[in-house]
Amino acid sequence: MKAAVLKSFSAPLDIQDLPDPAPGTGEVVVDVVAAGVVSYAANVFNGSRNYPLELPIVPGPGGVGRVRATGPDATRLKPGDWVFIDSTIRSRDNVANPEQILLGWTFRTPAALPLHRTYHHGCYAEQVLAPAENVTPIGQIEPADAGRWAALGRLLVPFGGLLAGNLQAGETLVVNGGTGGFGSAGVAVALAMGAGRVVVTGRNQQTLEDLVARFGRRVRTVRVTGDETCDRQSICDAADGPIDMVLDFLPREASAAQVRAAVLSVKLGGRVILMGGLRGEQGYLGLNYNWLMHNETTVRGAWMYGRDAIPRMVQMVRAGLIDLGQFELAEFGLDEANEAVAYAAANARPRQLTVLRPDRGAINR
Ligand SMILES: NC(=O)c1ccc[n+]([C@@H]2O[C@H](COP(=O)([O-])OP(=O)(O)OC[C@H]3O[C@@H](n4cnc5c(N)ncnc54)[C@H](OP(=O)(O)O)[C@@H]3O)[C@@H](O)[C@H]2O)c1
Repeated sequence: MKAAVLKSFSAPLDIQDLPDPAPGTGEVVVDVVAAGVVSYAANVFNGSRNYPLELPIVPGPGGVGRVRATGPDATRLKPGDWVFIDSTIRSRDNVANPEQILLGWTFRTPAALPLHRTYHHGCYAEQVLAPAENVTPIGQIEPADAGRWAALGRLLVPFGGLLAGNLQAGETLVVNGGTGGFGSAGVAVALAMGAGRVVVTGRNQQTLEDLVARFGRRVRTVRVTGDETCDRQSICDAADGPIDMVLDFLPREASAAQVRAAVLSVKLGGRVILMGGLRGEQGYLGLNYNWLMHNETTVRGAWMYGRDAIPRMVQMVRAGLIDLGQFELAEFGLDEANEAVAYAAANARPRQLTVLRPDRGAINR
């Protein structure tokens, strides 16, 4: 099979032939049709993100495709089925405290290395091998729409956070960093789940206005200034009532003060879900013990999503609650993998979705 291979952090992806994968028991091989390219892929591939991963690797955390072959124990999947390939792989031999990796992307701890080495290559290839539980049917789709369905990867991440925070219909949610790729997808998903009001924070006025134009009057925006107290007041003013939940998607470049501005706005008994990228010094949020106790606040981290979120998201799309047409799609063939990575970095506005089509050689050349 043809694949885009990352051989070194200082070289572009190399398009080359690799042996076809073969499924064992509990495994599935999928013909990949579309795989999303995130805006920060270039920083993963040049090593500046310091993601733990072993080279060489075929990157590509998840995608959409058709089942090529299954292991002998498959009960539902059959060749030709359209499926979503979930990159979130959890160890099967430690149910109480599983190791976690992202297929073709990264592993978290050294204990996860056996998983990373087994389910190593991701979706920037004509075929991918995945555990059967990571391959979920999405029903019949047109091949031309596969790129849009790759948006599931974007939508599922905030859906995982909203489920972790138990968002209820009618509630008021703040999406901190809501103008970004995952944050703005979180706005769409929260509205689909019935949020009564979604307060979106960001620094870019134009992007904020675009979100209101796109999603309507349940969305309120706050252009943040960097002044924590002032930004918190603006968030509370925009909510115009108690804030039930905060979903934070701020990136690693953001500050703890930006997170606190939203976190400390929640009502008594409110929930805070942290999904962003803060680390190092900025990862120490400086939340006051006494405030947390008296405000009865739940602060919870969330990484990716549970597997049950996938069929639920497919149903939300099928029901018309989520419109995949909202994304501006840019598709690249496998031979154009490096162009796709550069394009994704330069076109990271919330609606924009860059997709690699391993079923095609070149689309734009
Ligand atoms: N927990 C998980 O499972 C999970 C999964 C995927 C990604 N993530 C993380 O989620 C974070 C967001 O990813 P993304 O792809 O949505 O990023 P993104 O598209 O770059 O969005 C980040 C947004 O944050 C805002 N922002 C606020 N302060 C900023 C600052 N100081 N520097 C840069 N931007 C700032 C920017 O909007 P304005 O310019 O309008 O302020 C930007 O739109 C990343 O850290 C990523 O690693 C987490």
